[in-house]
Amino acid sequence: MKIVTIVGARPQFVKIAAVSQKLRRRHQEILVHTGQHYDYEMSGAFFDGLDLPKPDVNLGVGSGSHAEQTGAMLKGIEDILLAENPDCLLIYGDTNSTLAGALAASKLAIPVVHVEAGLRSFNRSMPEEINRVLADHLSDLLLCPSETAMTNLALEGITRNVHLVGDVMLDALNWAKRRSAGAETVFLNRFAMQKKQYLIATLHRSENTDDRAQFLRILDTFNLLDEPVIFPVHPRARKIMNEIGFRPKPDLHLIDPVGYLEMIALVASARLVLTDSGGLQKEAYWLGVPCLTLRNETEWVETVDAGWNVLVGPNPERISDTVKSYVPPQSRPPLYGDGTAAEKCVDLIGLKSEPMALVGRA
Ligand code: UD1
Repeated sequence: MKIVTIVGARPQFVKIAAVSQKLRRRHQEILVHTGQHYDYEMSGAFFDGLDLPKPDVNLGVGSGSHAEQTGAMLKGIEDILLAENPDCLLIYGDTNSTLAGALAASKLAIPVVHVEAGLRSFNRSMPEEINRVLADHLSDLLLCPSETAMTNLALEGITRNVHLVGDVMLDALNWAKRRSAGAETVFLNRFAMQKKQYLIATLHRSENTDDRAQFLRILDTFNLLDEPVIFPVHPRARKIMNEIGFRPKPDLHLIDPVGYLEMIALVASARLVLTDSGGLQKEAYWLGVPCLTLRNETEWVETVDAGWNVLVGPNPERISDTVKSYVPPQSRPPLYGDGTAAEKCVDLIGLKSEPMALVGRA
């Protein structure tokens, strides 16, 4: 099969690290980077550090409002689909690049395969929630990381060509652990940190960063924590931090975004994770590091049910109290598959050459 894959933002580069190589053993892949993320630390570093195939096309869309960004992608992706006429389009996750791919392909009657289908926060004020709902409803093959995701789709009437495959991010994590075995000390030495004696934080969701008063309240809370914090800062957050003139305490280390292998090593050695990222909630779980999620809801409810993830929202008291008192349970049942999700995705994509049924468009 000829498959066009769309990526554009950091978590998608991690996901293709698990899938692309396997896909290319059996199929022809044309990799399209929308250019949504463009700084070297947000994009190039991942292609270099994860040995990813070079994108065949980079649309260079860059920053803009949601409509500007998605509209420019839509046009660029349509041109490629018309020129290549692929057997299907492969999209990942919930970004504007995901939505643009789903829209462009479905209007050309090109089957859409969605990896990480069925996740819901049930919070429509998140751009990602809108992207996921629309992408799922436009998809012809839906590959889910969890039973919850399958149920979410069923409740929206999506039951055909829906499969439970597990999470391709677990495949990527297992690879990263093998690849960076023994390198932890190098990363820790860079920040003069001791194993399990620091926290790691990330924040980038518009709900936390765009409301300046809320963002500052969270940052001030980090400033009051008794332990050292390493905080790789997303460019969105960096820009706003500069605007509000935030001054970190000496052991709140605001660093540039780090590569995937370094991030995994820093998380594995941390005592606790503070984040609003989806990927990091799962990575913390798999690595056995307790996580505080600075949101009021999560798509990864199983990590909360297992007792390893607490939704503290943007609330300063809850954050500081929970950092001090939180002890996860002894047990940590396996979640989101067994690390072979990528292989399952590729198998299912291959099977679907019997015209993927173009769900809902027969
Ligand atoms: C996007 C995704 C989000 C994902 C996240 C991972 C959407 C709606 N959101 O959020 O689901 O979790 O990526 O990081 O697609 N910027 C730079 N350099 C870059 C990239 C971004 O300076 O390389 C700045 C730009 O000012 C841009 C802003 O960050 O406007 C936000 O970037 P954008 O791609 O819109 O969304 P993210 O916040 O990164």
